[in-house]
Amino acid sequence: MDNILRLVDLVKVFNNQKVIKNISLDIRKGEFLTILGPSGCGKTTILRMIAGLEKPTSGNILLNGRHIENKEPYELNINTVFQNYALFPHMNVYKNIAYGLKVKKVSKPEIRERVTKMLELVQLGGYEKRMPDQLSGGQKQRVAIARSLINNPKILLLDEPLSALDFKLRKKMQSELKSLQQRLGITFIYVTHDQEEALYISDRIVVMNAGSIEQLGDSRDIYERPRTKFVAAFIGESNLFDSTVDSIWEDKVTLKAGNLQIAADNRSLEVGDNVCVLVRPENVKYSLKAVEHFNIKAVTRENVYLGSSIKTIFMSEDGRKIISTNYNRSLKTPKINESVWIYWNPEDAVIINSEENNGYHCREKVMAS
Ligand SMILES: Nc1ncnc2c1ncn2[C@@H]1O[C@H](COP(=O)(O)OP(=O)(O)O)[C@@H](O)[C@H]1O
Ligand SMILES: [Mg+2]
Repeated sequence: MDNILRLVDLVKVFNNQKVIKNISLDIRKGEFLTILGPSGCGKTTILRMIAGLEKPTSGNILLNGRHIENKEPYELNINTVFQNYALFPHMNVYKNIAYGLKVKKVSKPEIRERVTKMLELVQLGGYEKRMPDQLSGGQKQRVAIARSLINNPKILLLDEPLSALDFKLRKKMQSELKSLQQRLGITFIYVTHDQEEALYISDRIVVMNAGSIEQLGDSRDIYERPRTKFVAAFIGESNLFDSTVDSIWEDKVTLKAGNLQIAADNRSLEVGDNVCVLVRPENVKYSLKAVEHFNIKAVTRENVYLGSSIKTIFMSEDGRKIISTNYNRSLKTPKINESVWIYWNPEDAVIINSEENNGYHCREKVMAS
C-alpha cells in the first residue's frame, strides 16, 4: 500500500527535554490512523510537527516522498481540527466554512457550491446563518470539520476533536467521522486518549507512551496481542502476572507467578524465561474445585453489575486483585467471601515478552528515507 506520510527518526526537544523520542512511522494513503496515549505523551506535538506548526529538533517528515519538515503550515495541504473547534465567533456558519476558499480568492459561485456540499456532508443544511454561539457542541465540531474539509486536504489531522462532547453525542460523532472518512477516502490522523474510541474508529492504532511508540497495529492486534505491559494495561482491563516459565508439556506451559501456578499456550518459550502473562477479564473463569495446572485460590470480593455484563473482583491468596467479566448473565455469580479456584483456557493467556517491554519502536516499519 502507498504511504502518504512518513515520519523518520523524529525528535522534538522542549527545554532540554526530549518529548518525542526518535519516532518512525509510515502512514498509508486513505487510512484512518489513530495516535493513542495518555495525556502528555506527545500526541499533539506530533500533529503540530506534521502540520508545520512546530519544527522537529531532528528527523524528517515526508509527504508523498517530499521533505516537509521545514515548511510553513500555509504551504501544506494539511488541515487540523482541534478539540476547542476554533471557529470564528463573529462569523456565521456559512462564512466560517467559506473562509479558506475566500482567502484563496475562489469565485463566489464556486464557494457557494462547495459550502453547500460541505453543509450536506456534515448534515448542517439550513444552519448557514447561525452564529457559533447558537450551535451545540456537536454542531460546532461539524462546522470545524467542514471548514477543514472544504480545502480538499490531502491529510486531515484531528486532535481529540470529540473530547468536549458528552458520551452519547461522542458515540454518534465517532460513527459519523468514521463513515465520512470512508466516503471521502482522505487520510485521517486522529489523536485521542480514549482507548475505546480508538478501537472503534481506527484502521490502525499507534499506542504511545512518554514520547515513544509502544505498538502499531489494528484494533484487534492491539487488544488481543499487546506487545508490552504498557499496551496491555492501557487498552481495556487486564490481569497481568509477572512470571517465569516453570515447565513445558507439549504445547502448554506452566508458569510461576509468585506462589501461583498458571498455564498458557507455549509460544516458543524456554524454562526460566521471564515473561508477563495477560489474561483479559472476559477470559477469567472460576470453579469451586481445584483446576489442573492452576493453583490460583481466591476469595470473591465484589460483584459489580454493569448492565450488559457482571464484573467480579477476586483477591488471590497472595493478595492479587483478579478481575473476571461475565457477559453471560444467566451464569451464577459467586457469593461474596466464597473461595474459588481461578483458571482460564491456556490459549487465552497472552504472553508478553518482558525483554521487549522497552525495546519496541515499530522497527519493522522503519525504512531508509
Ligand atoms: N511549547 C511547549 N513548550 C514546552 N513543553 C511543551 C510544549 N508543548 C508540549 N510540551 C511538553 O511536551 C510533552 C508532550 O506534550 P503534548 O504533545 O501536548 O502531549 P499530549 O498531546 O499527548 O497530551 C508534555 O510534557 C508537554 O508539557
Ligand atoms: Mg494533546
